[in-house]
Amino acid sequence: MRTKIKDILLSEKTDYAVNIKGWVRSFRNNQFIALNDGSCMASIQAVIGLDTDEAIVKKITNGACLSIDGVVKASLGKGQKVEVVAEKVTILGECDPEQFPLQLKNRPSLEYLREIAHLRFRTNTFGAVFRVRHTLAYAIHKFFNDRGFVYLHTPIITASDAEGAGEMFRVSTLPADNPPKNEDGSINYTEDFFGRCTNLTVSGQLEAELGAMALSDVYTFGPTFRAENSNTARHLAEFWMIEPEVAFNDIVDNMNLAEDFIKYVIKYAMDNNREDLEFLSQRLAEEEKQKPMNERSEMGLMEKLEFVVNNSFERITYTDAINILLDSPAYKKKKFQYEVKWGIDLQSEHERYLVEKHFKKPVIVTGYPKDIKAFYMRMNDDGKTVAAMDILAPGIGEIVGGSQREERLDMLTRRMEEMHIPTEEMYWYLDTRRFGACPHAGFGLGFERLVLFVSGMTNIRDVIPFPRTPKNAEF
Ligand code: 4AD
Ligand code: MG
Repeated sequence: MRTKIKDILLSEKTDYAVNIKGWVRSFRNNQFIALNDGSCMASIQAVIGLDTDEAIVKKITNGACLSIDGVVKASLGKGQKVEVVAEKVTILGECDPEQFPLQLKNRPSLEYLREIAHLRFRTNTFGAVFRVRHTLAYAIHKFFNDRGFVYLHTPIITASDAEGAGEMFRVSTLPADNPPKNEDGSINYTEDFFGRCTNLTVSGQLEAELGAMALSDVYTFGPTFRAENSNTARHLAEFWMIEPEVAFNDIVDNMNLAEDFIKYVIKYAMDNNREDLEFLSQRLAEEEKQKPMNERSEMGLMEKLEFVVNNSFERITYTDAINILLDSPAYKKKKFQYEVKWGIDLQSEHERYLVEKHFKKPVIVTGYPKDIKAFYMRMNDDGKTVAAMDILAPGIGEIVGGSQREERLDMLTRRMEEMHIPTEEMYWYLDTRRFGACPHAGFGLGFERLVLFVSGMTNIRDVIPFPRTPKNAEF
């Protein structure tokens, strides 16, 4: 039976027989194999006898997959406490070093690795990133489960545009080259698979609200799709979002939940993926060294995570945020590319100024102007702002978007009409406000933005196995 390398390294027991399987990371002096099976960052050293069959030795190349039977022994060499003294080496999969893309480049760049995303799991960096991603996903379910939330699976194919931003991918089985037409020339969707125009979801929120009106505390965790043409290091066309929705919560409860949640999952990763995070911390430190002094961050990755877990997030209103920006040296020196005045949507340069320069910690901004936010957010008494809440994180910008929801039927329908959202089609959503409505609130956390923050990676394409971005759907 196969033993995982992690278990052998962790136990530090010696003098027992094992079988290990994994991929060769290096092979020195025709004797020392570093074998990695992805169970942890470290590879194990396997030592083969000098009398090993030459035909086999020739096939022990970087990237080859081996099965090794042997005995775990205390290691005499530096750098490891135990090693496997091999008795039998079986080549499971050969790997020609002349052709292996990872072998051909010494220290391949992240950009290059993106082009060979099918192989990049084999590097230390991506092994660490995807183990951390897994742990975060697990911690998210654990957080909500421990608090009695119900995990709801909301539909991926939907006819509604929850965010009203019109950035949806159409789902259709009509022939693209010759779709059936109505008399006025428009496409006749009644002939389509679902008998109507459908899209991939941009958010599970509206359906989660329906669940919360009975189960009280629910969350979704699923893929979401946005056809926004943003080719940035923070945007994906397909990303994963976690959306809790809680009956009886107001905007303050919502902020508290989001802050507790973020701190919990970061702490969980720090407690359970220390080796990976320390490696990623070093990687980031090296990347930072390439930058000019004044652009380097003041804290290392571990320090930053520690800081976030142990300090309260700053809480300010949108109006405060605008005033801080207007008062800032950056504004006075005309450093911002985009205009700053009450009513604007905060641009990423503004968000980053607030979190990275001004507060130097995560910031929760509430009370945004109604005109820049979605129709479902609860109107504040001033009639100008809504009970929205965005959480901005250093190095990331917006990581969470949420709000208290408009539970008052008349206010909600008025807002929908103003924003040209079809109230008849959305009867099912409005029914929650007709039949036993209650105050409720929720938010959406972009999973990849969380993984970016925790892993210290700088491009969102490097924290999802196979990124989907404009003009790119390889693999
Ligand atoms: O702010 P957004 O658009 O909010 C919603 O979708 C609400 N329905 C959530 C809710 O209240 N239940 O998106 C939420 C988060 C953002 O803060 C961001 O972290 C992430 O989703 N996000 C993206 N992540 C990667 N690529 C994109 N294109 C993203 N768009 C949003
Ligand atoms: Mg948002």
